[in-house]
Amino acid sequence: MSFSLESIGMEKEARYEAIFTTMNDAGEMNAAPIGVKCINDYDIAARIFDGSKTLENIRQTKMFVVNITQNPQIFADSLYDNLDNLKFVKDDDIAYLKNADAYFICLVKSIDELDAEGDHVNEGAKSYIVVAENIKITINKKGARALNRGLYSFLESLIDYSRADLVDEAKKEEYKNRFLENERVIQRVAEKDVKESMVVLRQKMIEKGLDI
Ligand SMILES: Cc1cc2nc3c(=O)[nH]c(=O)nc-3n(C[C@H](O)[C@H](O)[C@H](O)COP(=O)(O)O)c2cc1C
Repeated sequence: MSFSLESIGMEKEARYEAIFTTMNDAGEMNAAPIGVKCINDYDIAARIFDGSKTLENIRQTKMFVVNITQNPQIFADSLYDNLDNLKFVKDDDIAYLKNADAYFICLVKSIDELDAEGDHVNEGAKSYIVVAENIKITINKKGARALNRGLYSFLESLIDYSRADLVDEAKKEEYKNRFLENERVIQRVAEKDVKESMVVLRQKMIEKGLDI
């Protein structure tokens, strides 16, 4: 058993994609993909939009479970609809995913409304920042690591770099826009080494004639 988020590859200040499992007061289980920011080895934060079952359940019970998985279908199925009850394990007052690579139980420290201004997607939408302390991590699969999409964004831009000499101006413009979007994602979510690699890649892209 471990208590440190580092044990599942979570780095301070980076953001990870996970499946939150929650229960309401009546014991009904819910799963949804939610991003989680690592504050330090023990504390995390999540920005959750008003209206979701996840937020409502967290408000009711003041606890939730963060499930770590790399399985794309679990992300999709828990977004399209709730997961089948058979996919959960109910353990007293918590529910977690049967097939998670790892999971950790969180106790809520605070729930505060977030200033909606400046949100790149949902300007004006009400959202809350939930800060919680992880009290126990269970690792089911050796080497389990929380999923950070920064690396994938970096690889997308690196592939564009490798093709930048071969393409016409219209395609270069496409690469430029994709670079800027990947850079935005990386600045927001990525781990330190990916952020550093992206700074170098920006320079390399400019050397290949991308007007960024
Ligand atoms: C990878 C991924 C990450 C997501 N992260 C968040 C998030 O951080 N906060 C949020 O409010 N919604 C997030 N969503 C959207 C929620 O999963 C979505 O609103 C879901 O329908 C909420 O389900 P619920 O009502 O069962 O809680 C994310 C979706 C995906 C696919």
